[in-house]
Amino acid sequence: MKGYGYIDIHSHILPGLDDGSQDMEQSLDMLRIAREQGIETIVATPHNMPGKGCPDRQLVQEALRRLQTAAGEKGISVRLCPGCEYYFREEVLEMLEAGEGITLGSSDCVLVEFGVSEEKRYIRNAVRAILGTGHYPVIAHVERYEKLTDDMELLADIRKMGAFLQVNASSVTGKNGRKTKEKVKKMLKSGLVDVIGTDAHSDGRRGPYLKECATYLYRKYPSDHADSLLYGTAEKWL
Ligand SMILES: [Fe+2]
Repeated sequence: MKGYGYIDIHSHILPGLDDGSQDMEQSLDMLRIAREQGIETIVATPHNMPGKGCPDRQLVQEALRRLQTAAGEKGISVRLCPGCEYYFREEVLEMLEAGEGITLGSSDCVLVEFGVSEEKRYIRNAVRAILGTGHYPVIAHVERYEKLTDDMELLADIRKMGAFLQVNASSVTGKNGRKTKEKVKKMLKSGLVDVIGTDAHSDGRRGPYLKECATYLYRKYPSDHADSLLYGTAEKWL
């Protein structure tokens, strides 16, 4: 078990941009929790979703700089990278095509979410369309899309196409129910999960908790597999 150096590629830690952190104080508390959990790099991924917020690149960069500075002043050492969680729609493809997309750090990867009951054909087509813009989709909390995760073959297929699959730490540890935990276990065993993220929204119940998940992964899987889920794959992107 490594216990440190983890990378969280899914976090609503930037203050006031979406339904995540409400202010700087909460963001700093989230950072403190993250560090205690062994997280040393956080990709800030505010929602880009009508109704929840659609900050542009400049706004994300500014909020990121403010938080990085505030963290430094409080003596919290953490590496923050820009990112965004796109709710998939036609407009997202236009942004990506125009080179206006917010990718994860300096990578060509974009974090994308869908409606929970979205049809698998729709998701597959979205993956293909995103790849067509020269970006690699990282499907956020893939365990949520029931129609997609009922079909392990399709999951393997979209990974082969070039997509990556992200699972929330809380789903690995069973905080989202036993059914979800079992499904995630099956995906992990089949090697269908690329990265773990916290999808943190606050310093409370939806905080950046990763330690319990990491302990579980190192207990159940070879350490190189756990390493790649908790930081190895993300480090390659960033
Ligand atoms: Fe999220």
